[in-house]
Amino acid sequence: MPATPPRPPHVVIADDQEAVREICTSVATGLGYRATGVASGREALRVCEQEPPDVLVCDVRLPDMGGVELLKRLKQSRPAVPVLLMTAYGTVGTAVEAMKLGATDYLTKPFELEELRLLLQDCVRQGQREQEGRAARLAVRGPYAGGNLIGVSPPMQRVFRLIGKVAQSRYSVLILGESGTGKEVVARALHYLGKERDRPFLPVDCGALVPSLIESELFGYVKGAFTGAHHNHEGLLEVADGGTVFLDEIGELPVDLQVKLLRAIQEKEIRPVGGTRRVKIDVRIVAATNRDLQAAVAEGRFRKDLFFRLNVVSIKLPPLRERPLDIPLLAEHFLERAAPTGSAPRQFSEAALARLLSYDWPGNVRELENCVERTLAFAAGPRLEVEDLPSYLQQVRAQPVAAAPSTIRAIAEVEREAILEALQQVKGDKLLAAKLLGIGKTTIYRKLKEYAFSARAGGVAGGGR
Ligand SMILES: Nc1ncnc2c1ncn2[C@@H]1O[C@H](COP(=O)(O)OP(=O)(O)OP(=O)(O)O)[C@@H](O)[C@H]1O
Ligand SMILES: [Mg+2]
Repeated sequence: MPATPPRPPHVVIADDQEAVREICTSVATGLGYRATGVASGREALRVCEQEPPDVLVCDVRLPDMGGVELLKRLKQSRPAVPVLLMTAYGTVGTAVEAMKLGATDYLTKPFELEELRLLLQDCVRQGQREQEGRAARLAVRGPYAGGNLIGVSPPMQRVFRLIGKVAQSRYSVLILGESGTGKEVVARALHYLGKERDRPFLPVDCGALVPSLIESELFGYVKGAFTGAHHNHEGLLEVADGGTVFLDEIGELPVDLQVKLLRAIQEKEIRPVGGTRRVKIDVRIVAATNRDLQAAVAEGRFRKDLFFRLNVVSIKLPPLRERPLDIPLLAEHFLERAAPTGSAPRQFSEAALARLLSYDWPGNVRELENCVERTLAFAAGPRLEVEDLPSYLQQVRAQPVAAAPSTIRAIAEVEREAILEALQQVKGDKLLAAKLLGIGKTTIYRKLKEYAFSARAGGVAGGGR
C-alpha cells in the first residue's frame, strides 16, 4: 500500500468575536494545523459535517446556540471529535458541565497563547490516539482465537504494518520477544490474516515436549516405529496442508531435530519416523523464541543455516515497559473482555492508571492481563482504585531515587511523586490536584503525559525540563 502523506490536523474555531477567531487561527497555523473560523453554532455544525475536524474550539456563548448545545449535537454525529470550550470569567460552571458531557478541556478567557497552544496539541493528540486505537483494533480484529491484537504505540504500529505486509506471503517468520509480549498472538494474526486462513494453524511447543515427542509430532511415524506406535500417525508438518505450523520456543529444539527440520523446509518433504516413504508437505513455518537466537548460533547451540531459513522476516516485539502508551489501552481491553456481559463498564482511576504506568511489567502483557483480572475479582465499585490493585502494584512508587545521577533528576522525581500522590488523594481529579499543588491545569496534563511517555523508558521520567 503506498503511504499517504499525513494530513495536517484541522481545527474549527467557533466564536462570534473576530479577534478571538484570528488569535486561535494564528496559534493553530503556527502549530502547522489548518484552521477554519466560523461565527455561529449552526455554521460550526455544517463545517464539522462536511469535514470532521481534529478539534472543535468553541465559545460557550454563541449567537444562535450555547456551546454546550453545540457540543451535544456534535457528539451525536461525531463522538470522537475533541472539543475545547472557551469560557468567559463567570461561566466556568458551564464549562465543568460541558466536561461531563464529553468536552475534552476548557480555557478561561482571557488566556495565554501558550496555554491555548498546549491544549490544542493535547486535544489533537487525544483525538488521534482515539482514532488510532480504534483503527488498531479494527485492523487486526479477526476470527483468530486469542483475542485482538492491541497497540497504539509507534513500535507496535510498526509491528502491525509488518504483519500486514508479510501475512499474505508464505515466507517463514521468526518472532522475537520477551515472555508475555504477545508472540503467539502475532503468530495467529499472521495466519488468520493470510490467504490460507481456512487451513489449519498448528502450534507446537518445542520447550514443553521431550525431543522424541517433538519429532513424532512434527514428522509423524509409521506403525511399529517404536513401542506403542500401534498405527501410522501423520506429522503436523503434513497435517498443516497449506496452513501454518507455529514452532514456539524454537530455541529449545535439539540440534538433530534442527537438521531434520531444515531439510524438511528446504526439500518440502518429510520422512515419518520409522518409515521409508517420503511425504510432500506444504506448510508455512512461523517460529518464536524469547532467547537470543543469534547468541545461540554464535555458541553453536543453534544451527546457523536453520536460523537463516527461519529468519526470512523477523518481527521483534518490544517489552511492555518500552511502550507505556499501550498500557491504558490494553488495560481497557482486558477490562472489557473480563467483564460479564451486560455488566456496567468499569474504569481505572487516574491514580490507579498512574501506578500501572510506573510499573515495569517483567511479565509483559500477560502480567498486565492477570493484574486486570485480579483487580476485577476484588474490586467492588465501578472505578478501580489504587487500593483495588494487587498489593505489589500498590507499593509501586515513582522510580527510586537511589541511583539518581544528579540533583535535577531527584527534583523531577519529587515533583512526579507529589503529582501522583495528589492525584491519588483526590481520586484522579486532575483539576483539583493541580489546584492543590498550585500548578496550572495544562502543566498537570503535560506532566502526566510526560510520565506516560517516559515511564521506565531509559530513566528520563519527569523530563527534568
Ligand atoms: N498486543 C496485544 N493485544 C492484546 N492482547 C495481547 C497482546 N499481546 C499479548 N496479549 C495477551 O497476553 C497474553 C500473552 O501473550 P502470548 O501468549 O502471545 O505471549 P508470548 O510472547 O507467546 O509469551 P511466552 O513467551 O511466555 O509464550 C495472551 O493472553 C495474549 O492474548
Ligand atoms: Mg508463547
